[in-house]
Amino acid sequence: MIELDFRGADSKFLGNENGLDIAQEFENYKDRIAEIITNLYKNKDADGEGLRWMDLGYSQETSWYVKEYAALVENRFDNILVLGIGGSALGGLAVTNALLTPYWNMLSKEERNGYPRIFFLDNIDPDEMNALLNILNLSKTLVNVITKSGDTAETMAQYMVLKDRLEQELGDDYRKNIIVTTDKKTGILRQISEQEGYKAFVVPDDVGGRFSVFTAVGLLPFALTGIDIDKITSGIKDMDSALQNPNIYENISAQNALIHYLMDTKLGKNITVMMPYSQKLKYVADWFIQLWAESLGKNQKLDGSPTCTGPTPVKAIGATDQHTQIQLFNQGPNNKIINFIRVGEFETTLNIPQIFQYTGIGYLGGKTINELINAEADSTLVSLIDYSRPTVTIKIPKIDGYHIGQLLYMLEMQTAIAGALYNVNACEQQSGSQARNYTYALMGRKGYEESAKALREKMLTV
Ligand code: PA5
Repeated sequence: MIELDFRGADSKFLGNENGLDIAQEFENYKDRIAEIITNLYKNKDADGEGLRWMDLGYSQETSWYVKEYAALVENRFDNILVLGIGGSALGGLAVTNALLTPYWNMLSKEERNGYPRIFFLDNIDPDEMNALLNILNLSKTLVNVITKSGDTAETMAQYMVLKDRLEQELGDDYRKNIIVTTDKKTGILRQISEQEGYKAFVVPDDVGGRFSVFTAVGLLPFALTGIDIDKITSGIKDMDSALQNPNIYENISAQNALIHYLMDTKLGKNITVMMPYSQKLKYVADWFIQLWAESLGKNQKLDGSPTCTGPTPVKAIGATDQHTQIQLFNQGPNNKIINFIRVGEFETTLNIPQIFQYTGIGYLGGKTINELINAEADSTLVSLIDYSRPTVTIKIPKIDGYHIGQLLYMLEMQTAIAGALYNVNACEQQSGSQARNYTYALMGRKGYEESAKALREKMLTV
């Protein structure tokens, strides 16, 4: 199982100004935490609570549909192209980057065991998009359009470009190269999909975009690229069983949620750094950033009263960011809590040959790259303690489907518990941001004429 080491956040090492008396805080909050966990499990099946992500490890139906479709199209496509943004892309990116062989898209078909390459278009940079379209053989590309709302401008604009290109190239057969993942009933994409007869998968009700990685949003791209989704779901289930325990002393999501909440509200450490020491986990950091930011960044408490909560998440990658951000973390404002993710066992052991005698680098020879990355993580941790900077360490035994399922689920639960501590609704799905509305206005969407006028006036005065 994944473990949490929170000694680096304790006042024993950091002093009272920068650390918490964790044993005492667990004692103080044990009843509140038990109440939060009990309520989460009590409310998970209730409509409108946004908690159905807690059921996803058990949802055999989706796994079954997804696997059936993946088997049906096996060997038909060389590329999967996912169109989606935010919660409709980041979970897929995080898991495929963690579980597929690095540089997957550069491997030959044989090296990929016949499974397709996978591309995520989660932005609308015209140069990037055009370049990708020029590379892909569209007749061998399966386009998965993912949008829960069905009208996200970025995704739908991409879809329109792709539909047009596919139609030009394949004639009426283009429909076989498009599948959609969207709401079961509502939304424009659902309507289009029914008219066009696309194969469609569902983003279930009461699962917000940032919690949707284990719905068809993620499971479909995973299955299509040969990732064993049963291993992922078995990791989720085991983690869920562990997290149902309302005892703070035994619940790592509750522990980490409480530590972060208190670090922010008591000690003013309102920046959460997510720092995996693993390149494979780099998009897990991006995924977490959205989860933490959109779930906790709120201007309303649960009772409707105004607030302004939300720790700011920051991404860092070990060892790379030791050379970019660590000086700031060590010496700059002491307003952060750094989450290390440490990998117990890498798949590969890579030796460093003994080829130089220079004192400055000779010591590296005969060691392994694995020893080096671990030594760097250890020394960074200790240097942060030297500067009284709080850390926690999440230990993942190895990067495989089982543990990735555990890791993501643990962080989702941590976020939900933190939301309850902050007294905000962490799992709600806000339908439209102000910026989204302004974009509609600028692009001439009907009904947004007044916003467009106001926006143009404001832009001139900025
Ligand atoms: O988590 C969220 O709510 C957002 O990041 C959405 O996932 C994102 O805006 C995309 O929305 P949709 O899936 O409706 O296209």
